[in-house]
Amino acid sequence: MTDLHITSAGEYPHGYDSRQTFVTTLDLIERVQPIDMIVITGDIAHYTLDGSICSWVSLHLSSYRVPVYYTPGNHDLPDLLADTGSYNEGLKGGELFYSLQLDDRRYIFLDTSGHSVSDKQLSWLASVLADCSHTHKHPVIFMHHPPCPAGSLFMDRKYPFRGSEAFGEVLQIYNDVIPVFCGHYHIAKTIIWKNAVIHITPSTCFEVDPFSETFSLEFAPSGLRVIDITNDHIQSSVLRV
Ligand SMILES: [Fe+2]
Repeated sequence: MTDLHITSAGEYPHGYDSRQTFVTTLDLIERVQPIDMIVITGDIAHYTLDGSICSWVSLHLSSYRVPVYYTPGNHDLPDLLADTGSYNEGLKGGELFYSLQLDDRRYIFLDTSGHSVSDKQLSWLASVLADCSHTHKHPVIFMHHPPCPAGSLFMDRKYPFRGSEAFGEVLQIYNDVIPVFCGHYHIAKTIIWKNAVIHITPSTCFEVDPFSETFSLEFAPSGLRVIDITNDHIQSSVLRV
């Protein structure tokens, strides 16, 4: 799930009740039970993240009794998410990035809250991907921003990921395809770029018209992405309310 854009109670970002749309979208999980984990790829808050928003989201997710992993978006504070998620040892110098080994997969969670990946994070990612190649583990990356332009006129111009070229070079340290799951653009889309297959998941709140050069809402239902992973295949699909 991604781009919850939760506000204080009684505030309505772009006219949407983001608390209600989150709860309604979350209910879709009932259709795909059982699940093993929930990943929230950022923009938990619409303005600025605070403890009460984290607690509110966490309370709703806790009913599923599975680990919840967060990657910070540009509206989030990494240290608050580190305290909220199921893995809280990933905070390094104010950035929240970490990886988990499960079976033959290495799950990598990145911090793009500053619209980029820092040099420190990039060299850590390089070492993780080199290790994946040597140990024959398959990486799966979660991050808020798509790491390349993604064909939304407004978002590509106004809020792009910065540092695509350097990031793309690091991805190619791994000698096979890397699935990347992200949000930020408030659309559903899949892009092939370098050796990555990038899946953008729609927001649980509002969608952005990819064909408008100015900020413009697209009236599509909110959604989440269901990801089915085994050691030798990945498939995913978007479910909408
Ligand atoms: Fe967002």
